[in-house]
Amino acid sequence: MYYNNEIWVASAGDKKISIVPKMANRHGLIAGATGTGKTVTLKVMAESFSDCGVPVFLADVKGDLAGMCRPGIDSADMQERIARFGLAECGFDYEAYPTCYWDIYGQNGIPLRTTISEMGPTLLARLMDLNPTQTAIMQIVFKIADDEGLLLLDIKDLRSMLQYVYENAKEYSAIYGNMAKQSIAAIVRSVVALEEAGGDQFFGEPGLNIRDWFQTGDGGKGMINILDCQSLINNPTMYSTFMLWMMSELFETLPEAGDAEKPRMVFFFDEAHLLFEDAPKALLQKIEQVVKLIRSKGVGIYFITQNPSDIPNDVLAQLGNKVQHALHAYTPAEKKKVKAAAESFRENPEFDTMEAISSLGIGEALVSFLDRDGRPSVVERAKILPPKSQMGPIDEMTRNRQIQQNNLYIKYEAVEDRDSAYELLTKRIAAEDAAEQQAKEDALQAKAEEKQRKLEEKELERQRAAAEREAERKAKKTKTAVKSVAKTATGTIGREIGNTIGSSVGGKFGKKLGGNLGAALGRGLLDTLFRF
Ligand SMILES: Nc1ncnc2c1ncn2[C@@H]1O[C@H](COP(=O)(O)OP(=O)(O)OP(=O)(O)O)[C@@H](O)[C@H]1O
Ligand SMILES: [Mg+2]
Repeated sequence: MYYNNEIWVASAGDKKISIVPKMANRHGLIAGATGTGKTVTLKVMAESFSDCGVPVFLADVKGDLAGMCRPGIDSADMQERIARFGLAECGFDYEAYPTCYWDIYGQNGIPLRTTISEMGPTLLARLMDLNPTQTAIMQIVFKIADDEGLLLLDIKDLRSMLQYVYENAKEYSAIYGNMAKQSIAAIVRSVVALEEAGGDQFFGEPGLNIRDWFQTGDGGKGMINILDCQSLINNPTMYSTFMLWMMSELFETLPEAGDAEKPRMVFFFDEAHLLFEDAPKALLQKIEQVVKLIRSKGVGIYFITQNPSDIPNDVLAQLGNKVQHALHAYTPAEKKKVKAAAESFRENPEFDTMEAISSLGIGEALVSFLDRDGRPSVVERAKILPPKSQMGPIDEMTRNRQIQQNNLYIKYEAVEDRDSAYELLTKRIAAEDAAEQQAKEDALQAKAEEKQRKLEEKELERQRAAAEREAERKAKKTKTAVKSVAKTATGTIGREIGNTIGSSVGGKFGKKLGGNLGAALGRGLLDTLFRF
C-alpha cells in the first residue's frame, strides 16, 4: 500500500520495506517457483502505484488479476494479516481500483489493436517466425510500401502488398535487391497463418494510442490497465512480441522525463521468460536497449518469472528492485540457479541468503529495493502485504459492464477501414487489368480491321479484274460486230462498184467481172478500214 509517500510492499518484523517512487523507474524483478505468491506481490505493487497516482499496465495471464475492479473480501485470514502487519493503523481498507480491461482479441476487454506498420518488419518477422532471408524481404516490402505511399494497416494490406511485390518481383528486385519469388510466397503463407491466429482482429485501426493508458480514476488514482492474456498466452511468441511492442511503443511515444519524483507509468511483464526464449540476437539487443533507455522516459518495467536465470544477465543487471519468492534447490542445476539468485543480493549478516531462498513460505520473499541514492538495500526476509482489492477473477457480467462503461470503449470498439495498401493496390491492379484488356481489345480490333482491309482490297482487285475482263469481252464483241458489219458493208459497196464497172463492160463477162471486182474491192476496202 501507498504509505508515507512510499510503495510499501512487505514487512520484515516491524520494518516496512518500501520502494521509493523516485527509484521505481529503475525496474524490478518478481521471481519465484509456481504458487509462491508472485501474482499477489504484483497486485500489491500495482495497487500502491495506482494509489500514488501512477498508471499501471499488467498482463493478466491466468485471469486472476481481473478482480482489481472490486474491493477485497473480508475473511478471518485477512483479519489476521491486517493485524500482523499493523495495517489498520496505517489506513488499510478494502478498495476497488480504476481498471481498464484490454484484449487483443476484443473478447475480454476493449479491443487493443495496432497497425502492421506500427508493429514494424522486425517484430512482425518474429511473430511470423521468418528466417533471416525472409526477414530481409519483409523489410524491403515495408520500404516499397513507404516509397509508394501505400499504408500497411491490416492483414489485408500486408497480404496484397506481398502479392503485388510477388507479381512484380523482377522489377522490384532490380531496384531494391534480389527477392526470390519462392521466399515471398513463403512469407505469404506465414501471413495466412498469422491471420488464422487472430491477426485480422488485432491488426487494424483504430490502433492503440498508448497515451490512453495514462488515465487517472477517482481520487487521482492511476489507471490499472489489464491486458487479458488468457488466450494470448497459448501463443507464447505472439504474447511476448506484443508485450515487447507495447514496451517499445511506450519508449518511442514518451518524451524524456528527467529525474521525476515518481514514474509516469509502471509496466508489469508476467511470464517474462517468454520474451527471451529463442529470441534472435538482434531482438535481444533491442530488448536490452529499450530496458536501458526507457527509464529516462519515466517508465519502470517489472519482470515476473519463475527463476532470475530466465532473464539475460545484461537485463538482470538493470533490475534494481527485487522480490525473490521461494525457489527449489534439489538438483545440482537448481542449486546453481539458487546460488546465482542469492549472490545477486546485497548480503544480510543475519541470515544465509541461499538457504533462505529455498525455505521461504508462500507470501514470503527476499526483498531488496534501491534506496534514495539508488543503492541496493541489504536483503530482507519479509512477508508481502495482502492486497486491498479482490483476489482472483471476475464474472463475465461484471467484466462486460466494466468494459462498456469505460469511455475508451466507444473510441476503440468498432474497426475502421480506411483506404490503405489493399484498397489502393486493388484499384491499381484493376486499372492495370483494364489497360491490359483494352490493349488486347485494341490489338484484336486492329487485326480485324487489317483483315477487313485486305478482304476489301481483294474484292476490289477481283472487281477490277472482272471489269477488265468484261471490258475486254465487250471490246472483242464490238470488234466482231464491226468486223461483220464492215464485211457486209464493204461487200455491198464493192459489189455495187463492180456491178457498175461490169455493166459498162457489158455481156456475161462484164457481169462476172463486175462481181469479182466488187468482191476484191470490198476486201480491199475492209482491209483498209481495219488498218485504221
Ligand atoms: N502475500 C500473500 N499473503 C497471503 N497469501 C498469499 C500471498 N501471496 C500468495 N498467497 C497465496 O498463495 C496463492 C498463490 O499465489 P500466487 O497466485 O500469487 O502465486 P504465483 O507465484 O503467482 O503462482 P503462479 O506461478 O502459478 O502464477 C494465492 O492464491 C494465495 O492464496
Ligand atoms: Mg501468478
